[in-house]
Amino acid sequence: MQIDVVTLFPEWFDWFRSQRHVANALAAGHELRTLNPRQHSPLSGGQVDDTPFGGGAGMVLRVDVMDLALQGIYGMDPVELRQQRRVLALTPGGRIFDDRFVDELAAEPAITLLSGRYEGFDERIVQHFASDAVSIGRYVLSGGELAAMVVCDAVLRKLPGSLGHAESSLEESFSAALGGDPEYPHYTRPAEYRGWRVPEVLLSGHHEEIRRWRRARSRERGASAPGGSLP
Ligand code: 6GU
Repeated sequence: MQIDVVTLFPEWFDWFRSQRHVANALAAGHELRTLNPRQHSPLSGGQVDDTPFGGGAGMVLRVDVMDLALQGIYGMDPVELRQQRRVLALTPGGRIFDDRFVDELAAEPAITLLSGRYEGFDERIVQHFASDAVSIGRYVLSGGELAAMVVCDAVLRKLPGSLGHAESSLEESFSAALGGDPEYPHYTRPAEYRGWRVPEVLLSGHHEEIRRWRRARSRERGASAPGGSLP
């Protein structure tokens, strides 16, 4: 899979790229590129943003600069580009990023993440250049970069080559295998610590009972965390 991140702060991703699970995914043939729209700005000093029409605080990423940046990167009109690959604008008001969204993106051969800074994007970027608007939660970050890393992390770990165990991303929290419920609790040695015993069933070696116990705990957690279960 190819993930492109259009960001004014490509160096933020140097650390992210060096994390082992990300490095493994890249070594397995997946690609994470960062592209700086400033390099495509025709304005003096590489200007990319401007004050909002109508007044108000902060700066807004310009639609003309993003148009030229996407044309420069992909060699085509971004209005066409979004028909060919998912182009996701990272914005706090977008579609909430959840496990189903992760699966959708992990099935794509290539995606582009548009990261806004300051007060965000000129709305025409979202309307005409993006196929989707994504939010990682109902709060405001100072830019889309951290959200882009969240999206990259969640997507890359679902791809072959990024995990130590191919199975460990199948039956995890919110996955279809768990009916959208959170994951069951995990325990490891010691079996008793300060009088706190690990549930006996897990030490029993009865795989079917263990499976049933885990499914039940997972369901309980889903029921006590509203919105945790798939419909
Ligand atoms: Cl995607 N961007 C920003 N700036 N803030 C956010 C967000 C995205 N998701 C939640 N808050």
